[in-house]
Amino acid sequence: MQREPPSSILTPRMRLRPWAASDAPALLPVLERNWAHLAPWIPAHVATPVPLAELAERLSTFADDFAAGRAFRYALFGLDDGRLIGEADLFPRDAAGRVPLAKADRVELGYWLDCKVTGRGLATEAAGALVELANTLGGVTCAEIRCETANKPSRRVPMRLGFALTDTLPDVSLRSDARPVLLEVWTLIAATPDSE
Ligand SMILES: CC(C)(COP(=O)(O)OP(=O)(O)OC[C@H]1O[C@@H](n2cnc3c(N)ncnc32)[C@H](O)[C@@H]1OP(=O)(O)O)[C@@H](O)C(=O)NCCC(=O)NCCS
Repeated sequence: MQREPPSSILTPRMRLRPWAASDAPALLPVLERNWAHLAPWIPAHVATPVPLAELAERLSTFADDFAAGRAFRYALFGLDDGRLIGEADLFPRDAAGRVPLAKADRVELGYWLDCKVTGRGLATEAAGALVELANTLGGVTCAEIRCETANKPSRRVPMRLGFALTDTLPDVSLRSDARPVLLEVWTLIAATPDSE
């Protein structure tokens, strides 16, 4: 039987919880100061700072997607000071693309961090927590991380977590300038009771 992802996850240094529209005032300055850091690598509809009301609507859509089982975007908060520091995502998918959780046989993980907190292992810690969660969902055979070959900090996250590079695909969809890029697919086969 399939389980729903929880609405709160604790790691040693972070709390993960779904976005809410009320996070917009905290998120806006983070997006504003991270534009150059995020824009080359993550979709514009996530990275672009927009007026507060529009950002609240975006976060409300993320919250609706979470509640409907379409995409599980978690905001990351540091346990030391409670500050918003980034996002970690679990996207249900099949071989062809993203699908609702009920139809998924795998999950894709995503993440971004405020540049103020990179270099501390927080993205690896958050992604590791989502791998553990994926193992409990039922019906999920593997976790994937898709990142550009050129995105060295991102590709090191699946490497640290023991993922294997299973594919490299030409992809034009990630970049607003439609410049062709190479997209790597990193895969970790889900732990099963038999394999543990
Ligand atoms: C991708 C991204 C989240 C990676 O951030 P990061 O800080 O390099 O990743 P982590 O938080 O896992 O930290 C790893 C770094 O912390 C260091 N580190 C320190 N303590 C650590 C710990 N306890 N555990 C693991 N790593 C630790 C590691 O050595 C590593 O540094 P290095 O790459 O210089 O060796 C960040 O670069 C980012 O937000 N990029 C823009 C958005 C993006 O590209 N998203 C992914 C799209 S596919």
